[in-house]
Amino acid sequence: MHPISPRTKLYCVIGQPLSHSLSPLMHNRAFEVTGQDAIYMAFPQTEESLPGFFAGFRSLPIMGCNITLPFKVPAMKYVDGVSERARRVGSINTVYWRDGKLLGENTDVDGFAVPLRGRKFEHALILGAGGVSRAAIVALQELGVPKISLTNRTFAKAQVMAEEFGIECVPWEQRAETGCDLVVNATSLGMKGAMENMSPCPEGFFHGRAGLAYDIIYTPEKTVFLKQAEEAGWEVQTGVTMFVEQGRASFRLWTGIPMPAEEACDAVRGALAARG
Ligand code: ATR
Repeated sequence: MHPISPRTKLYCVIGQPLSHSLSPLMHNRAFEVTGQDAIYMAFPQTEESLPGFFAGFRSLPIMGCNITLPFKVPAMKYVDGVSERARRVGSINTVYWRDGKLLGENTDVDGFAVPLRGRKFEHALILGAGGVSRAAIVALQELGVPKISLTNRTFAKAQVMAEEFGIECVPWEQRAETGCDLVVNATSLGMKGAMENMSPCPEGFFHGRAGLAYDIIYTPEKTVFLKQAEEAGWEVQTGVTMFVEQGRASFRLWTGIPMPAEEACDAVRGALAARG
Protein backbone atom coordinates (compact mmCIF):
# COMPACT_ATOMS: atom_id res chain seq x y z
CA MET A 1 0.00 0.00 0.00
CA HIS A 2 1.35 3.40 -1.00
CA PRO A 3 1.97 5.70 2.01
CA ILE A 4 -0.29 8.76 1.52
CA SER A 5 1.38 12.12 2.16
CA PRO A 6 0.11 15.72 1.87
CA ARG A 7 1.91 15.82 -1.49
CA THR A 8 0.40 12.61 -2.88
CA LYS A 9 -0.99 13.17 -6.36
CA LEU A 10 -4.33 11.60 -7.15
CA TYR A 11 -5.27 9.90 -10.43
CA CYS A 12 -8.40 7.92 -11.18
CA VAL A 13 -10.60 6.14 -13.67
CA ILE A 14 -14.31 6.91 -13.99
CA GLY A 15 -16.85 4.55 -15.54
CA GLN A 16 -19.65 2.15 -14.65
CA PRO A 17 -19.01 -0.61 -13.73
CA LEU A 18 -15.36 -0.44 -12.67
CA SER A 19 -14.98 -3.53 -10.50
CA HIS A 20 -13.02 -5.35 -13.24
CA SER A 21 -10.89 -2.41 -14.38
CA LEU A 22 -7.17 -3.26 -14.52
CA SER A 23 -6.17 0.41 -14.83
CA PRO A 24 -5.69 1.01 -11.06
CA LEU A 25 -3.42 -2.02 -10.81
CA MET A 26 -1.36 -1.05 -13.87
CA HIS A 27 -0.93 2.63 -12.98
CA ASN A 28 -0.24 2.02 -9.28
CA ARG A 29 2.42 -0.51 -10.28
CA ALA A 30 3.93 2.08 -12.67
CA PHE A 31 3.94 4.78 -9.96
CA GLU A 32 5.69 2.35 -7.63
CA VAL A 33 8.31 1.31 -10.20
CA THR A 34 9.03 4.94 -11.20
CA GLY A 35 9.11 6.08 -7.55
CA GLN A 36 6.29 8.60 -7.65
CA ASP A 37 4.21 9.85 -4.75
CA ALA A 38 0.93 9.16 -6.49
CA ILE A 39 -2.10 6.94 -6.20
CA TYR A 40 -4.66 5.83 -8.79
CA MET A 41 -8.21 5.00 -7.73
CA ALA A 42 -11.47 3.80 -9.32
CA PHE A 43 -14.39 6.23 -8.98
CA PRO A 44 -17.65 4.75 -10.32
CA GLN A 45 -19.97 7.46 -11.64
CA THR A 46 -23.41 7.90 -13.11
CA GLU A 47 -24.47 10.26 -15.91
CA GLU A 48 -25.97 12.51 -13.17
CA SER A 49 -22.80 12.58 -11.05
CA LEU A 50 -20.48 13.62 -13.93
CA PRO A 51 -20.83 17.42 -13.42
CA GLY A 52 -20.02 16.99 -9.73
CA PHE A 53 -17.06 14.76 -10.53
CA PHE A 54 -15.56 17.31 -12.91
CA ALA A 55 -16.15 20.14 -10.40
CA GLY A 56 -14.19 18.02 -7.91
CA PHE A 57 -11.49 17.38 -10.51
CA ARG A 58 -10.93 21.12 -10.77
CA SER A 59 -10.80 21.74 -7.00
CA LEU A 60 -9.01 18.65 -5.62
CA PRO A 61 -5.41 17.59 -6.30
CA ILE A 62 -6.50 15.28 -9.13
CA MET A 63 -3.73 15.29 -11.72
CA GLY A 64 -5.32 13.09 -14.34
CA CYS A 65 -8.03 10.61 -15.08
CA ASN A 66 -9.07 7.88 -17.46
CA ILE A 67 -12.60 7.69 -18.78
CA THR A 68 -14.13 4.36 -19.64
CA LEU A 69 -17.56 3.11 -20.68
CA PRO A 70 -20.12 4.62 -20.79
CA PHE A 71 -18.65 8.10 -20.31
CA LYS A 72 -16.11 8.44 -23.14
CA VAL A 73 -18.48 10.63 -25.17
CA PRO A 74 -20.36 12.60 -22.45
CA ALA A 75 -17.10 13.49 -20.65
CA MET A 76 -16.07 15.63 -23.63
CA LYS A 77 -18.36 18.46 -22.61
CA TYR A 78 -16.74 18.88 -19.18
CA VAL A 79 -13.18 19.59 -20.37
CA ASP A 80 -11.71 22.85 -21.69
CA GLY A 81 -10.59 21.34 -25.01
CA VAL A 82 -9.91 18.09 -26.84
CA SER A 83 -7.20 17.14 -29.34
CA GLU A 84 -7.88 17.00 -33.07
CA ARG A 85 -7.44 13.23 -32.85
CA ALA A 86 -10.01 12.88 -30.04
CA ARG A 87 -12.38 15.05 -32.04
CA ARG A 88 -12.07 12.66 -35.02
CA VAL A 89 -12.64 9.61 -32.81
CA GLY A 90 -15.51 11.43 -31.13
CA SER A 91 -14.60 10.43 -27.58
CA ILE A 92 -11.94 10.81 -24.87
CA ASN A 93 -10.41 8.25 -22.54
CA THR A 94 -7.85 10.53 -20.85
CA VAL A 95 -8.05 13.89 -19.11
CA TYR A 96 -4.93 15.85 -18.16
CA TRP A 97 -3.84 19.33 -17.14
CA ARG A 98 -1.90 21.72 -19.44
CA ASP A 99 -1.28 25.35 -18.53
CA GLY A 100 -4.22 25.44 -16.12
CA LYS A 101 -6.59 23.89 -18.66
CA LEU A 102 -8.27 20.50 -18.43
CA LEU A 103 -7.73 18.74 -21.76
CA GLY A 104 -9.12 15.54 -23.30
CA GLU A 105 -7.25 12.98 -25.41
CA ASN A 106 -8.07 9.58 -26.86
CA THR A 107 -5.06 7.32 -26.23
CA ASP A 108 -6.89 4.25 -27.63
CA VAL A 109 -5.60 5.43 -31.02
CA ASP A 110 -1.95 5.21 -29.94
CA GLY A 111 -2.67 2.04 -27.99
CA PHE A 112 -4.13 0.38 -31.08
CA ALA A 113 -1.33 1.61 -33.37
CA VAL A 114 1.72 0.56 -31.31
CA PRO A 115 1.78 -3.15 -32.37
CA LEU A 116 1.35 -2.10 -36.03
CA ARG A 117 4.12 0.53 -36.18
CA GLY A 118 6.78 -0.15 -38.82
CA ARG A 119 4.64 -2.81 -40.50
CA LYS A 120 3.07 -2.65 -43.95
CA PHE A 121 -0.48 -3.75 -44.68
CA GLU A 122 -2.38 -3.35 -47.94
CA HIS A 123 -5.95 -3.85 -46.80
CA ALA A 124 -7.43 -3.77 -43.29
CA LEU A 125 -10.89 -5.12 -42.45
CA ILE A 126 -12.53 -3.95 -39.23
CA LEU A 127 -15.30 -6.16 -37.82
CA GLY A 128 -17.72 -4.13 -35.71
CA ALA A 129 -18.88 -0.52 -35.70
CA GLY A 130 -18.88 0.51 -32.04
CA GLY A 131 -16.84 3.16 -30.21
CA VAL A 132 -13.58 1.24 -30.30
CA SER A 133 -13.86 0.77 -34.09
CA ARG A 134 -13.63 4.54 -34.47
CA ALA A 135 -10.26 4.62 -32.64
CA ALA A 136 -9.02 1.73 -34.81
CA ILE A 137 -10.05 3.52 -38.03
CA VAL A 138 -8.30 6.76 -36.99
CA ALA A 139 -5.16 4.76 -36.10
CA LEU A 140 -5.17 2.86 -39.43
CA GLN A 141 -5.64 6.12 -41.34
CA GLU A 142 -2.77 7.74 -39.42
CA LEU A 143 -0.61 4.68 -40.17
CA GLY A 144 -1.37 5.14 -43.88
CA VAL A 145 -2.95 1.73 -44.57
CA PRO A 146 -4.02 2.18 -48.23
CA LYS A 147 -7.38 0.39 -48.03
CA ILE A 148 -9.64 0.14 -44.98
CA SER A 149 -12.99 -1.68 -44.98
CA LEU A 150 -15.63 -1.76 -42.30
CA THR A 151 -18.29 -4.40 -41.72
CA ASN A 152 -20.93 -4.76 -39.04
CA ARG A 153 -23.90 -6.99 -38.22
CA THR A 154 -26.11 -3.87 -38.31
CA PHE A 155 -25.21 -2.61 -41.76
CA ALA A 156 -26.66 0.90 -41.36
CA LYS A 157 -24.24 1.67 -38.49
CA ALA A 158 -21.24 0.63 -40.60
CA GLN A 159 -22.53 2.66 -43.53
CA VAL A 160 -22.76 5.89 -41.53
CA MET A 161 -19.32 5.37 -39.98
CA ALA A 162 -17.67 4.36 -43.27
CA GLU A 163 -19.04 7.46 -44.96
CA GLU A 164 -17.82 9.71 -42.15
CA PHE A 165 -14.27 8.32 -42.42
CA GLY A 166 -14.24 7.88 -46.21
CA ILE A 167 -13.63 4.13 -46.11
CA GLU A 168 -15.28 1.11 -47.77
CA CYS A 169 -18.37 -0.51 -46.24
CA VAL A 170 -18.77 -4.26 -46.71
CA PRO A 171 -22.02 -6.16 -45.96
CA TRP A 172 -21.60 -8.51 -42.96
CA GLU A 173 -22.53 -11.52 -45.15
CA GLN A 174 -19.61 -10.69 -47.48
CA ARG A 175 -16.96 -10.20 -44.79
CA ALA A 176 -15.07 -13.37 -45.83
CA GLU A 177 -14.73 -12.17 -49.40
CA THR A 178 -12.42 -9.19 -48.90
CA GLY A 179 -8.76 -9.99 -49.64
CA CYS A 180 -7.51 -8.26 -46.50
CA ASP A 181 -4.13 -8.91 -44.85
CA LEU A 182 -5.13 -7.32 -41.50
CA VAL A 183 -8.37 -8.29 -39.73
CA VAL A 184 -9.43 -6.47 -36.58
CA ASN A 185 -12.07 -7.83 -34.21
CA ALA A 186 -13.79 -4.78 -32.75
CA THR A 187 -17.00 -6.65 -31.90
CA SER A 188 -17.79 -8.04 -28.46
CA LEU A 189 -17.79 -11.61 -29.82
CA GLY A 190 -15.22 -13.69 -27.89
CA MET A 191 -15.35 -11.62 -24.70
CA LYS A 192 -15.38 -13.50 -21.40
CA GLY A 193 -18.96 -14.30 -20.42
CA ALA A 194 -21.90 -15.19 -22.63
CA MET A 195 -20.01 -14.48 -25.90
CA GLU A 196 -16.74 -16.22 -25.01
CA ASN A 197 -17.22 -19.16 -27.41
CA MET A 198 -18.25 -16.97 -30.33
CA SER A 199 -16.21 -15.52 -33.19
CA PRO A 200 -17.08 -12.80 -35.71
CA CYS A 201 -15.53 -14.96 -38.43
CA PRO A 202 -17.18 -17.98 -40.05
CA GLU A 203 -15.33 -21.30 -40.33
CA GLY A 204 -12.70 -21.15 -43.10
CA PHE A 205 -12.45 -17.33 -43.01
CA PHE A 206 -8.65 -17.38 -42.62
CA HIS A 207 -7.85 -20.32 -44.88
CA GLY A 208 -5.90 -19.96 -48.11
CA ARG A 209 -4.36 -16.58 -47.29
CA ALA A 210 -2.10 -14.95 -44.71
CA GLY A 211 -1.95 -11.86 -42.56
CA LEU A 212 -2.36 -10.51 -39.07
CA ALA A 213 -5.47 -11.09 -36.93
CA TYR A 214 -5.79 -8.39 -34.26
CA ASP A 215 -8.27 -8.72 -31.41
CA ILE A 216 -9.10 -5.72 -29.25
CA ILE A 217 -10.56 -8.03 -26.57
CA TYR A 218 -8.08 -8.94 -23.82
CA THR A 219 -10.30 -11.07 -21.54
CA PRO A 220 -9.63 -13.84 -22.44
CA GLU A 221 -6.30 -13.02 -24.05
CA LYS A 222 -6.58 -15.81 -26.65
CA THR A 223 -10.07 -15.49 -28.13
CA VAL A 224 -11.80 -17.96 -30.48
CA PHE A 225 -11.14 -15.44 -33.30
CA LEU A 226 -7.38 -15.56 -32.61
CA LYS A 227 -7.38 -19.35 -32.27
CA GLN A 228 -9.09 -19.69 -35.66
CA ALA A 229 -6.50 -17.37 -37.21
CA GLU A 230 -3.56 -19.13 -35.61
CA GLU A 231 -4.77 -22.53 -36.77
CA ALA A 232 -4.83 -21.21 -40.34
CA GLY A 233 -1.23 -19.96 -40.00
CA TRP A 234 -2.01 -16.28 -39.43
CA GLU A 235 0.00 -14.09 -37.10
CA VAL A 236 -2.04 -12.94 -34.10
CA GLN A 237 -2.10 -9.85 -31.91
CA THR A 238 -3.95 -9.98 -28.60
CA GLY A 239 -5.66 -7.00 -26.97
CA VAL A 240 -3.32 -6.89 -23.97
CA THR A 241 -0.78 -4.73 -25.81
CA MET A 242 -3.43 -2.19 -26.81
CA PHE A 243 -4.72 -2.02 -23.25
CA VAL A 244 -1.23 -1.49 -21.81
CA GLU A 245 -0.22 0.99 -24.53
CA GLN A 246 -3.31 3.19 -24.13
CA GLY A 247 -2.42 3.32 -20.42
CA ARG A 248 1.23 4.11 -21.20
CA ALA A 249 0.15 6.99 -23.44
CA SER A 250 -2.08 8.38 -20.65
CA PHE A 251 0.73 7.98 -18.11
CA ARG A 252 3.12 9.93 -20.35
CA LEU A 253 0.60 12.77 -20.75
CA TRP A 254 0.19 12.99 -16.97
CA THR A 255 3.78 12.50 -15.79
CA GLY A 256 5.99 13.23 -18.81
CA ILE A 257 7.85 9.98 -18.20
CA PRO A 258 7.45 6.56 -19.83
CA MET A 259 5.59 3.81 -18.00
CA PRO A 260 7.86 0.73 -17.85
CA ALA A 261 6.18 -1.53 -20.45
CA GLU A 262 7.37 -4.88 -19.19
CA GLU A 263 6.24 -4.33 -15.58
CA ALA A 264 2.88 -3.01 -16.80
CA CYS A 265 2.34 -6.04 -19.07
CA ASP A 266 3.38 -8.44 -16.29
CA ALA A 267 0.98 -6.80 -13.82
CA VAL A 268 -1.92 -7.01 -16.29
CA ARG A 269 -1.17 -10.62 -17.36
CA GLY A 270 -0.73 -11.63 -13.69
CA ALA A 271 -4.14 -10.19 -12.78
CA LEU A 272 -5.79 -11.84 -15.80
CA ALA A 273 -4.24 -15.20 -14.90
CA ALA A 274 -5.39 -14.87 -11.27
CA ARG A 275 -8.95 -14.33 -12.53
CA GLY A 276 -8.72 -17.58 -14.51
P1 ATR B 1 -17.58 -0.72 -28.21
O1 ATR B 1 -17.91 0.69 -27.89
O2 ATR B 1 -16.69 -1.40 -27.20
O3 ATR B 1 -17.06 -0.89 -29.60
P2 ATR B 1 -20.34 -1.47 -28.78
O4 ATR B 1 -20.63 -0.07 -29.22
O5 ATR B 1 -21.33 -2.12 -27.88
O6 ATR B 1 -18.95 -1.57 -28.04
O7 ATR B 1 -20.12 -2.36 -30.07
C1 ATR B 1 -20.16 -3.72 -30.04
C2 ATR B 1 -19.95 -4.27 -31.45
O8 ATR B 1 -20.08 -5.68 -31.40
C3 ATR B 1 -20.98 -3.76 -32.45
O9 ATR B 1 -20.37 -3.61 -33.70
C4 ATR B 1 -22.00 -4.90 -32.47
O10 ATR B 1 -22.75 -5.02 -33.65
P3 ATR B 1 -24.18 -4.28 -33.82
O11 ATR B 1 -23.85 -2.85 -34.14
O12 ATR B 1 -24.84 -4.99 -34.92
O13 ATR B 1 -24.89 -4.42 -32.49
C5 ATR B 1 -21.07 -6.08 -32.36
N1 ATR B 1 -21.78 -7.28 -31.89
C6 ATR B 1 -22.29 -7.53 -30.66
N2 ATR B 1 -22.90 -8.73 -30.62
C7 ATR B 1 -22.79 -9.26 -31.87
C8 ATR B 1 -23.21 -10.49 -32.49
N3 ATR B 1 -23.86 -11.42 -31.80
N4 ATR B 1 -22.90 -10.68 -33.78
C9 ATR B 1 -22.24 -9.76 -34.50
N5 ATR B 1 -21.80 -8.58 -33.98
C10 ATR B 1 -22.08 -8.34 -32.68
